[in-house]
Amino acid sequence: MIEDPPAPTEMVYPLSPTDSGVSRETTPEDETPIAAAAAAAARIPRGPTEMWPRPVSTRVLTVANQKGGVGKTTSTVNIAAALALHGIRVLVIDLDPQGNASTALAVPHHAGEPSVYEVLVNGQPLVSALHEVEAVPGLACIPATIDLAGAEIELVSLVARESRLQRALTVLLQEAEAAGQRFDFVLIDCPPSLGLLTINAFVAASEVLIPIQCEYYALEGLGQLVRNVELIQSHLNPDLAVSTILLTMYDGRTRLAAQVADEVREHFGSVVLATAIPRSVRVSEAPSYSQTVLTYDPGSSGALSYLEAAREMAHRVVSPAEGGATA
Ligand SMILES: Nc1ncnc2c1ncn2[C@@H]1O[C@H](COP(=O)(O)OP(=O)(O)O)[C@@H](O)[C@H]1O
Ligand SMILES: [Mg+2]
Repeated sequence: MIEDPPAPTEMVYPLSPTDSGVSRETTPEDETPIAAAAAAAARIPRGPTEMWPRPVSTRVLTVANQKGGVGKTTSTVNIAAALALHGIRVLVIDLDPQGNASTALAVPHHAGEPSVYEVLVNGQPLVSALHEVEAVPGLACIPATIDLAGAEIELVSLVARESRLQRALTVLLQEAEAAGQRFDFVLIDCPPSLGLLTINAFVAASEVLIPIQCEYYALEGLGQLVRNVELIQSHLNPDLAVSTILLTMYDGRTRLAAQVADEVREHFGSVVLATAIPRSVRVSEAPSYSQTVLTYDPGSSGALSYLEAAREMAHRVVSPAEGGATA
């Protein structure tokens, strides 16, 4: 029930000339470009960049969820950029024919451009499609082109169809290490399906990162995803385990988001990162400028949350035997 507000008994004047009494529903960053830049600069942590620990050996993570639009690509590119900005060498492999990760990292990916397609289908080495990401030192990317859309079908008749990415990645990682350029993290951005492309990613990785969007249907399909990981584990890659769950597009104003987050934490425990990524306009704008949010608006809440999530990941020790993570 909505009650009428009490009638005002006296006039209230602004306390000072600067306090106009105007309600600040919008944040100052929305007002003018200069205000936005100033607000962002004020929030950027000062001082020398902190370096995060490099893992003892390369960690390969598959970012998977067969649902579309849950934040797989957004999380892949922003976590990759956050790690690279803290002294960790990172490779992103775009395994989605949409090529969204390639777009966000400004890596050329027109049809016919050397890409992960030639690697999977023609057996080309990964290095032939490797690009350094200009805006983020220490970050490299293997792009996906639309050619990859046919790969699910083309792979069916090929030898070792489930392990073609793993074979190519092993060669690349060995060569990089021999050249003194070891990759510390590899993040594989998957398409929204559990087909042969995603299976290739599961076979190539030892960890699975599942982004979960905090909304009503979030948990639907999660059982199927976890069962698939277990199937791969028992038949194709005993090292594979779900090591990380990231809550995305968290809207703190809704009770539903909190309920979903509680449910996920109750079920998956410490595998869920403490940091949840809030819904943020800056996060969704960044790809249209071919950027990650970490370079597009480093002081925004989205950028700061991805930094926190990446920091947690870098500081976790993952035991290969269990694949589980401890902080
Ligand atoms: N934290 C966020 N705040 C606002 N929009 C987001 C956020 N994370 C992702 N998005 C937007 O949601 C859409 C789907 O995200 P995306 O990462 O492409 O999902 P997926 O790769 O799982 O299909 C994109 O338009 C993206 O910009
Ligand atoms: Mg995607």
